[in-house]
Amino acid sequence: MSDKNSDKNEIIKEIIFESKSCEETESIAEEFAKKLKAGDFLAFFGDLGSGKTAFVRGIVSYICPKCRVSSPTFAIVNEYLGGKIPVFHFDMYRIYDDDSLFSTGFYDYFDREGIIAAEWCENIPFALPEKRYDIIFEKINENARKIRIIKRQQCTENI
Ligand SMILES: Nc1ncnc2c1ncn2[C@@H]1O[C@H](COP(=O)(O)OP(=O)(O)OP(=O)(O)O)[C@@H](O)[C@H]1O
Ligand SMILES: [Mg+2]
Repeated sequence: MSDKNSDKNEIIKEIIFESKSCEETESIAEEFAKKLKAGDFLAFFGDLGSGKTAFVRGIVSYICPKCRVSSPTFAIVNEYLGGKIPVFHFDMYRIYDDDSLFSTGFYDYFDREGIIAAEWCENIPFALPEKRYDIIFEKINENARKIRIIKRQQCTENI
């Protein structure tokens, strides 16, 4: 079928930012966070040190100001609770297949009415929901980052 709505990669909207500092990345994220709601899935892509955790820090500073974000690389998932909406922050750096993903409890988080923010989604293409935001980081130089936010299928009202 060629029904537009059956296109799994349908792009609803794309916006591009250029950030010149870690603080600017956090404030772009803080602004973006105002549009988010429970059930949204944020898929982060980009190299080591490109700013993914900084962006999550900005989101959490709006959703749960008293929460402190740390990289979940070893824990795989950090939960930020007690704010407007729960935020579940995954790092898929060490996940390569569905068995290892399943054992983190990843799939159970879809029932928990929160925002899921997953770093290193390059490693889990098989597990990404069709309805999501892709947030893609590119290093331009030491302090500049290109950040593309792509809304796939209908997520929240507007980015
Ligand atoms: N414009 C920028 N935006 C974000 N971070 C920046 C920027 N410029 C420099 N940085 C620096 O880049 C690093 C980004 O680190 P961060 O932990 O957010 O990256 P990451 O993409 O989560 O890496 P990892 O893949 O290791 O989890 C920090 O040291 C930060 O200070
Ligand atoms: Mg990180």
